[in-house]
This record gives sequence, C-alpha cells and structure tokens, in this order.
Amino acid sequence: MTDTLEVIRTRRSIRSFKPDMVPRDVIGQIVEAGTYAATGKNGQSPVILAVTNRRLRDRLSEMNAQIMGVDMDPFYGAPVVLVVLADKSRPTCVYDGSLVMGNLMLAAHALGIGSCWIHRAKEEFETEEGKELLRSLGIEGDYEGIGHCVLGYVDGEYPDAAKRKENWVYYIE
Ligand SMILES: Cc1cc2nc3c(=O)[nH]c(=O)nc-3n(C[C@H](O)[C@H](O)[C@H](O)COP(=O)(O)O)c2cc1C
Repeated sequence: MTDTLEVIRTRRSIRSFKPDMVPRDVIGQIVEAGTYAATGKNGQSPVILAVTNRRLRDRLSEMNAQIMGVDMDPFYGAPVVLVVLADKSRPTCVYDGSLVMGNLMLAAHALGIGSCWIHRAKEEFETEEGKELLRSLGIEGDYEGIGHCVLGYVDGEYPDAAKRKENWVYYIE
C-alpha cells in the first residue's frame, strides 16, 4: 500500500495482535519515518525507544495498567512498543512528539503492520523507574512521555473507521 492518502484514510487503531515479532528492518523503517516528522524550529525534540525486549515490554505494560487501574495488558499483546518522549525544554515538545506518533502509525500501516497509540507515557516516565530507564540509556535532561505506538501483526478482523462527525471542516472561501 503506497498511496499516501489511502494509507491515511485506512489506518485504524488495532487492539488485537498476534505474538509474532516484527522484523528488525521493518521496525527500522517505521522509526525512521518517525524521525522525519516536522518539529518546531527543527528542534527534533523527541526520542523514540524501540522496545522489543520482552521483559521491558511487559514491565511497561504493567506500569501502564497500574496507572490506568486495570488488570489487563494495555498493549493488547503487541510484541513491539515504540515509546515517544520529547525534551521538555523545547516549547513545542508535545506537538513534536505527537506528530512523530502520527508518522509511526501511518508508516506501520503502509508496511502492513498494525498499530495503536497507547496513552499514559507521561505518567509512566514521571516515575522514578521511568526516569531511571532513561538514565540507563544515557538520555539526559527532562523528557515528557508522549505516547506508546504499539506494533504487531493484526489478529482478527481489520476494524472499520468510525463515522466522521458532522461539521469537521469549515470552508471559508
Ligand atoms: C492521544 C491518544 C491517546 C490514545 N490512547 C489510547 C489508549 O490508551 N488505548 C487505546 O486503546 N487507544 C488509544 N488511542 C486510540 C484512539 O482510541 C483511536 O485513535 C480512536 O478510537 C479512533 O480510532 P482509529 O485510530 O481507528 O481511527 C489513543 C489515541 C490518541 C490520539
């Protein structure tokens, strides 16, 4: 699927994944698309943690579930978690990181990989454990968690898009 508008129109949030790992080169193409997102003043404030390590993936899932107050896997079984964080010293950090998330989801879909934005990265990386993880990776400074883009092969039916609301767009001509 290479038509950009078709990719944008047909991307859906996937909430059921097969356990099969996504090949490393495919993950590489998806994260590269993330790094080419526009950023305020080209500050390139975000960073992406591409997590395929099962222990860390499961720990992030536990932390996320705890923040949400539920006993389930908020990553829906996805084997890959791309955590996007952004440097708080840049005033556009949340916008920058959100656009990276958009690129990641669209690139994944273009490559036949399911994705979903999973929230609560902010709370996760406000914990001492989250901060320690960043320190262990040599990521210095103050980073805000923007989101998790979980990736994997779609299990089951591909979801339909919800009906678009009325009055999405106002043309002023
Ligand atoms: C900021 C943001 C946070 C989201 N957080 C979650 C989440 O924690 N869990 C989840 O299942 N989906 C989450 N989603 C996915 C939305 O629920 C989804 O985009 C919406 O229902 C529309 O469906 P679509 O992506 O298939 O068009 C999030 C999306 C955004 C943009």
